[in-house]
Amino acid sequence: MLTDNHNRVISYLRLSVTDNCNMRCQYCMPAEGVEFSPVKELLSWEEMFLLASTFIELGIKKIRITGGEPFVRKGLMEFLQKLAGVEGLEEISITTNATLIGPHITTLKSLKIRNINVSIDSLDKNRFNDITRRDYFDTVLNNVYQLLQNDFNVKINCVVMAGHNTEDIIPFINFSNEYNVDVRFLEEMPFNGHSKNFDRLEWDHIKIMEHITNQFPKVNRLQSVAGSTSENYTIENRKGSFGIIPSFSRTFCGTCNRIRVSAKGELQTCLYTNDSVSFKKLLGGNPGMELIKQAIHAAVKSRFKDGFEAEEKTEWKKSMSLIGG
Ligand code: GTP
Ligand code: 5AD
Ligand code: SF4
Repeated sequence: MLTDNHNRVISYLRLSVTDNCNMRCQYCMPAEGVEFSPVKELLSWEEMFLLASTFIELGIKKIRITGGEPFVRKGLMEFLQKLAGVEGLEEISITTNATLIGPHITTLKSLKIRNINVSIDSLDKNRFNDITRRDYFDTVLNNVYQLLQNDFNVKINCVVMAGHNTEDIIPFINFSNEYNVDVRFLEEMPFNGHSKNFDRLEWDHIKIMEHITNQFPKVNRLQSVAGSTSENYTIENRKGSFGIIPSFSRTFCGTCNRIRVSAKGELQTCLYTNDSVSFKKLLGGNPGMELIKQAIHAAVKSRFKDGFEAEEKTEWKKSMSLIGG
């Protein structure tokens, strides 16, 4: 079992498989001039598999595959096929923009990968295209419908941004009622590759909640799930549920059970800190499993108490596409 220096059990690995993406969401990266890492700088699939297996031996039970956009990288499905066979791993889930997932739905189902989080920031085509700076709205929505028809647990992630999509909050709640699906509203975080200034957050979790309860006063809070970043609610007489993720306000750090590996193989013990170990370098020296385990243990034993402490002691200009959220 992996336990950190604040007595939190770490059982959840977020593994970013690429920093590359076919969209350019405003809150994630600049419109132009984004330089993605050459594939040789990323962990190879073999390295990633070795690393994932080591984490599983140490007690990781759930792996969420993130990006950039995971389906952009060739070889993902073969990797998932191997990973699904590793004993001890209880769940593989994926976070995706759902532009490329369509042809893989049947295989994902056969691998028992059931939990797919999809980023959609607007239900209005023009606003969606404005935020993502690409024209994939119909494809994404169509793939979401296919996932739902195939009984996947789909959670929609909507990053709430003043001046961009606050008028979408209520339509998303209506969408969750119509399709019996979970919609989560995310506070925006300052990880955009420096394309945007970030002084304060106007639409924080409190303002989002007020906006929703103005329209739907009868909300019921669902019991918190250990290690979850979202507070979840249902609305009386309506299907589906909604959640709010206070990623900027960071109210959930006390029960954080997660650790991250970036696409370039950097271990990150908090979203708000920089890398602690470079697995790319370490694995290049053929270290053997014991040394990898030691490096993981050392990093886990020196985690910051919370995202505020991590932020205070870190200088960064990162984009979410490398760390995967
Ligand atoms: P599950 O609990 O596995 O469903 O995953 P999730 O909701 O954490 O995953 P997802 O990839 O959908 O991420 C949603 C958002 O949660 C991310 O973009 C972040 O905004 C936020 N988030 C996830 N983990 C952390 C964390 O450790 N710290 C902070 N501050 N935010 C996080
Ligand atoms: N702030 C908040 N959420 C972000 N995401 C990407 N960049 C940011 C940001 N700057 C979200 C995506 C995706 C999740 C993994 O991270 O919408 O759903
Ligand atoms: Fe791509 Fe996700 Fe970043 Fe949007 S948020 S540009 S979909 S990596």
